[in-house]
Amino acid sequence: MGKPKALATRPLFPEARAILDQQFETDYWTLTERIPRAELLARVAEKEALVCLLTEKVDEELLSAAPKLCVAATVSVGYDNIDVAACTRHKVVAAHTPGVLDETTADFAWTLLMAIGRRLVEGDAWMRSGTWPGWDLDQLLGGDVWGKTLGIIGFGRIGRGVARRARGFQMRVLYSDSARAPLDVERELQAEFVEMDRVLRESDFVTLHVPLLPDTRHLISTEALGKMKPTAYLINTARGPVVDEAALVQALEREQIAGAALDGYEHEPKVHPALVSRKDVILTPHIASASVETRTKMAVMAAKNAVALFKGKRPPNALNAEAAVL
Ligand code: DGY
Repeated sequence: MGKPKALATRPLFPEARAILDQQFETDYWTLTERIPRAELLARVAEKEALVCLLTEKVDEELLSAAPKLCVAATVSVGYDNIDVAACTRHKVVAAHTPGVLDETTADFAWTLLMAIGRRLVEGDAWMRSGTWPGWDLDQLLGGDVWGKTLGIIGFGRIGRGVARRARGFQMRVLYSDSARAPLDVERELQAEFVEMDRVLRESDFVTLHVPLLPDTRHLISTEALGKMKPTAYLINTARGPVVDEAALVQALEREQIAGAALDGYEHEPKVHPALVSRKDVILTPHIASASVETRTKMAVMAAKNAVALFKGKRPPNALNAEAAVL
């Protein structure tokens, strides 16, 4: 009997390919352009496993087109691209990659925080333009980071990683979440649990670490932005739709906040056109987890999730283990 068949919508990394190829006859999409939807539906039709990226939707349409599919493993911790309930109905185990990208993403939230606060990108552009006249007292004044108040919305693994780093900057840390963290965690991170309202009103930097759910879509709305200090910065390394981009543009235009640094967008890969020309905004292409080490770990984890069922095991990071038919 031949090996079961898998589709990977990217070539992944050699470490992940080695795991997949041992178990499956794997069809890798290797073109630079993203796999077109029609091609995805055609190629997945005869496959038993799918390893996909967050840019591919695993929904009713795809599941109906893939009657043999047993597992759909996304190479991401966020799984808003996967209709988990539909997977369960189709007896497809959905899996994601939690845990391996927390510290790398927390690093990047800090990269953005410091870059927007201290106007790094503007300074770099000035130097490259050849027009810098030399040092002066009031050039590119930003906001201090050390000693300020950091507001963390979403206090899971990544939010806590961001808080841990704030201790080195002698910051006061406020956080909001749907549930309070254990007291020993609060004590260790010197973080105070408050209503989101207080995070918004009192923080100099507000950083977002919530998953995209129906009630976190546009969590950062006109109303929320209106509560922030005019000297405060917004940092988003969570999913783009957590921020209402039109509301953000308006808040920046009205100088209701000092700036924003974004790594996720409401309609990726598009960016609200008004954000592009603004100097008080830093835009990065969804790279918060993009270190060699972490992206390799994510791909390996997704590959392990894909092969587990075929080795008679439950995928280690299943979102709906009940769908497994072992
Ligand atoms: C994720 O994993 O969900 C990120 O957005 C990409 O690392």
